[in-house]
Amino acid sequence: MAIKVIVNIPNEAPYDVRIGAGQLEGVGAKLRAVSAAPDAFVLTDSTVGSLYLEPVRASLKAAGFRTVAVTVPAGEESKSVACAAELWQAMADAKLGRDALVVALGGGVVGDIAGFVASTYMRGVPFVQVPTTLLAMVDSSVGGKTGINLDAGKNLVGTFCQPLYVCASTDTLATLDEREWACGCGEVAKSAAVEGDDFFFWLMEHAERMAARDPEVVTEAIARCVTLKADVVARDEHESAGVRECLNYGHTYGHAVEKLAGYGVYSHGHAVAEGMRFAARLAAACGRGSEEFAQAQDELLDALGLPALDFAADPTEVLACMKGDKKVRGGKLRYVLVHDAGDWSVESPDDDTVLGQLEAWMASKRA
Ligand code: NAD
Ligand code: GLY
Repeated sequence: MAIKVIVNIPNEAPYDVRIGAGQLEGVGAKLRAVSAAPDAFVLTDSTVGSLYLEPVRASLKAAGFRTVAVTVPAGEESKSVACAAELWQAMADAKLGRDALVVALGGGVVGDIAGFVASTYMRGVPFVQVPTTLLAMVDSSVGGKTGINLDAGKNLVGTFCQPLYVCASTDTLATLDEREWACGCGEVAKSAAVEGDDFFFWLMEHAERMAARDPEVVTEAIARCVTLKADVVARDEHESAGVRECLNYGHTYGHAVEKLAGYGVYSHGHAVAEGMRFAARLAAACGRGSEEFAQAQDELLDALGLPALDFAADPTEVLACMKGDKKVRGGKLRYVLVHDAGDWSVESPDDDTVLGQLEAWMASKRA
């Protein structure tokens, strides 16, 4: 049985997110119900394409779409200017018009670049998301952030553009490796911490079944994350009203860990989990958090298969790295601090406070 969540953002067309097993076979019919496009341009990556392109293509063809499929190499490197240029060219070579539909079949990398080329080709053609990683199902496929990377940083070029439909076929998660699974669990834990007691305690109760990929628990966890994201994005689509920032919980320190350890050493979601652990201590140091919540969050992350990292670095270097984040405004770090489940604020603690906390954190790692 599939769950449907409707994303209803002011001044945007509402769209459905369908979550459940066995959705790929019927994706063509679902898309036909929302689009009269003659052509579907399916973008996937080398790993996902070999697993799931054929059933998706067959379903699209059965629903009367002419399909053109392009496969990019799996991995973050495909979110590049060069790859975007190749995709625009492939779309032009296939003589796609403004009535074409772009289908993103894959994880967050495919979703971000597909959304970006769709929103820019011929000044914008519609696109749909068919996410195949846990991270993409709970976060990146919903909310309309698209993007590519530059040498100067990740996601520095992109658009806000909402998809027409999101099809999260949870059976595809069976082929995800342990590292990517745990990575997605980091974003699920983040959502639970910012959503509130209801989700946080539910996830604590079901963490072991989540880690074991119990289908019922996984479907519900995705639906809860999507419901939260739909609500947040409806209130602050362009991250300009101080609401959408909550989704960056754990990301400031997490991004520094990813960068300083070397991209790829830790998965993004595991680095975010480490960032959540640090942020809970920083909240306490700012007089805004509690040791009780920090410990409950530690237990949740442990149970989800996201143990504390042994990463340690020079606090001054970490602070400088965090200040390079694109979320810094007016030279000030903007830290999402969760005081208790669902009770969060964005704070700019002074450098001495952050440094003091980083020193204590690194000392605890070296003990
Ligand atoms: P990814 O897309 O690179 O996928 C991870 C790996 O899993 C890849 O090797 C992929 O080929 C493989 N894979 C995907 N689905 C699979 C499946 N079902 N079975 C087996 N293997 C599979 O990574 P991701 O974690 O999904 O996404 C990360 C990207 O998402 C980053 O670029 C990040 O910036 C972006 N992101 C965007 C948003 C947003 O709001 N737009 C939010 C969070 C993250
Ligand atoms: N992943 C954070 C956001 O979509 O805003």
